[in-house]
Amino acid sequence: MPPPLPILQTQLAPGVIDLGLGNPPLSLLPLEMIRSAAQRALSQNDNSFLQYGAEQGDGYFRLALAEFLSKGYGFQVAPENLFTTTGISNGLDLLCTLFTEAGDTICVEEPSYFLALKIFADHRLRVVPIETDEEGLIIESLEEKLTRYRPRFLYTIPVHQNPSGRTLTETRRARLIELSRQFDFLVLADEVYQLLNYSGEPPKSFGAYSYIENIISLGSFSKILAPGLRLGWIQTHANIIKRLVTSGLLDSGGGLNPFTSAIIREVIESGDLERNVDELIETYRPRVALIDSLLREHLPAVTYSVPRGGYFFWVRLPEEMDAAELRNKAKVVKVDIRHGALFSSQNGLKNYMRLCFVFHEEKEIEEGIVRLKGCMEGNF
Ligand SMILES: Cc1ncc(COP(=O)(O)O)c(C=O)c1O
Repeated sequence: MPPPLPILQTQLAPGVIDLGLGNPPLSLLPLEMIRSAAQRALSQNDNSFLQYGAEQGDGYFRLALAEFLSKGYGFQVAPENLFTTTGISNGLDLLCTLFTEAGDTICVEEPSYFLALKIFADHRLRVVPIETDEEGLIIESLEEKLTRYRPRFLYTIPVHQNPSGRTLTETRRARLIELSRQFDFLVLADEVYQLLNYSGEPPKSFGAYSYIENIISLGSFSKILAPGLRLGWIQTHANIIKRLVTSGLLDSGGGLNPFTSAIIREVIESGDLERNVDELIETYRPRVALIDSLLREHLPAVTYSVPRGGYFFWVRLPEEMDAAELRNKAKVVKVDIRHGALFSSQNGLKNYMRLCFVFHEEKEIEEGIVRLKGCMEGNF
């Protein structure tokens, strides 16, 4: 028999526990919900979603999305300020195309989401890291880099950051917005985890500032519904939207993903999306306490802060330990992690690792951490 053809981006070999993988599990991707929404969308006599779509995205979809976000974010979101993307990755790529040239300087948090760093590399951008602490990016470090490099934009993940789990405080957000005006750079706020909160409410989404031209909030259905939909949005000022909708990509291809948007509009209007987010939160919340207790019990030498939302624990290993080496050892016992250097634009952070509490269920997480303990203690 020929080997099966690849379907998934990441296919785990049997028995492997990948504690680093930041994907939702197949078991939480709501097939029935999408099936019934698709049936409703496809049984109407309106076939307009099979045509090239409006450049900004289907107006009815944006209206439904605006209502959903207004409730979830706790402030009024206007459909005019929303632009449909095929996900945050696509939004970042498009913004780089339109607002940068090869060789431009941009700033990112250190650490940052490693695959965004790849998108910036595709655009030949020069990346300058900004130091972070428990409260997110350090404003003094940013200010110093702004003066020195005059970056085109700052890419930040201001809430439940990937990989650190940290959230930028209100005070720093206010200062960041001021600086964006003073130094005339764009803030690309990747808020993929804004609605996945397990304890307390985070500060308001940067979408609340879409009356300021420098502020761009990026959102996605990948972590609140399903990544295979390839659907997301940008919330921003009308002038930025104007630039997006007049781009060559949109001019030629029309609005992004009109077919999927028509189905997801049904998911939103039926209340299913809100119910799905609630269910995800109820599923993920206890995992945070679980990982916390497992780490205390089995890996007492590591330190970390307990995240209040999102997907990740960012774990600091003893200073002399290299997480890439730990990863190699762990592979022998069929465990994987993501090593810190992946998230560094400077090849630093070697004694950190990212653990995700979403992909595997409780028993596997425990088994994975026990195996990791063996690797750290040199028993394998
Ligand atoms: C911070 C961050 N941004 C963006 C993405 C990818 O988003 P999308 O699937 O919408 O392209 C991820 C996925 O892991 C992420 O963690």
